[in-house]
Amino acid sequence: MQTEMIKIDREGELEQQLEKAAALIRRGELVAFPTETVYGLGADAMNESAAARIYSAKGRPSDNPLIVHIADLSQVDEVASYVPEAARRVMEQFWPGPLTVILNKKDAVPDGTTGGLKTVAIRMPSHPVARALIRESGRLIAAPSANLSGRPSPTTADHVYEDMKGRIPMILDGGPVGIGIESTIIDMSGPLPLILRPGYISREQLMEVAGQVEIDPAVSGKVMPEKVVAKAPGMKYRHYAPRGQLVLIEGPEDKVIEKINALAAEKEKEGLRVGVIASDEIVDRCSAGVCLHIGSRSNPETIAARLYDVLRETDKLGLDYIYSESFFEKGLLDAVMNRMLKAAGYRLISLQPDVERRAAE
Ligand code: TXA
Ligand code: MG
Repeated sequence: MQTEMIKIDREGELEQQLEKAAALIRRGELVAFPTETVYGLGADAMNESAAARIYSAKGRPSDNPLIVHIADLSQVDEVASYVPEAARRVMEQFWPGPLTVILNKKDAVPDGTTGGLKTVAIRMPSHPVARALIRESGRLIAAPSANLSGRPSPTTADHVYEDMKGRIPMILDGGPVGIGIESTIIDMSGPLPLILRPGYISREQLMEVAGQVEIDPAVSGKVMPEKVVAKAPGMKYRHYAPRGQLVLIEGPEDKVIEKINALAAEKEKEGLRVGVIASDEIVDRCSAGVCLHIGSRSNPETIAARLYDVLRETDKLGLDYIYSESFFEKGLLDAVMNRMLKAAGYRLISLQPDVERRAAE
């Protein structure tokens, strides 16, 4: 299959540029498109065989449900059987934007879209191309991130092309995305709102509108969730992972860079290809391996925006080992760490004084 790349001219008439893409969606075909979080791989959400195409293009396990993208609040009622008052408030406050809300589904939503679950994930993106595509196609669009299953999510059309070339008919190139990590997912189908995946919209922001909000214990820890079962099926799979072995190091800045340099030098001596992921704050002190710059701690948005591109870069460079500093901080960096821990298979070296003390006892 030929994969056509359509460069979107944001100054030009969107409807016209999206005509062909909208027709593909109506025919049950796949189109990759930009959203404000990451690129999505879209298909008609109410067409079971279209949803099935998504799974085969991504190589994704079919029990992992898709997010249904809408362009208008009224469309919630096409897929949700019941919308609690708090969910309405959350939608009105944060949509369009990087938030996915899970509600009980209507029978009309095919099992192929929700992985057989009785609930449905709904999101109204703010990206103009995503919104125009939903409107022009006249369909609700089911879309996971447009990467091959297990790979880092795509934040540029080139990332999508790397993974989806020959597998899908069309990619809409709307330039690099703004945020760079996937939407926050909040489950509001039960009595207590539960965050299933952290993202740009924080727990604190959600609590202001929805009252008490819990975080799924399976996604908030520093250790691999074994006994606790993640409520979002997708969170249990190995994810976002580069081909090389990623190891995270946390602790005081000076000790972290010292340790990273030592580990990198050691692996290089063994003849292995090594990379170091570092922020502005320590990047000048990298002394071994290929140094990859991820952004600035003082501006967490730059780190979120660069994360997946840096992980993909480690693959292009053919790195065997990658050492990265950690960003255990409140807010957006917490969502970044959720992705990095998964990408690292939870390999984390702690140089925190209290952890070292405990280990010595
Ligand atoms: O920012 C985003 O959310 C992007 C863009 C394209 O919108 N999409 C995205 O989709 O990240 P995906 O498929 O890569 O991740 C969706 C996550 C998966 O972990 C899936 O298991 C979970 O949402 N999910 C979907 N429906 C669910 C449901 N009914 N109950 C629980 N988890 C659900
Ligand atoms: Mg994904």
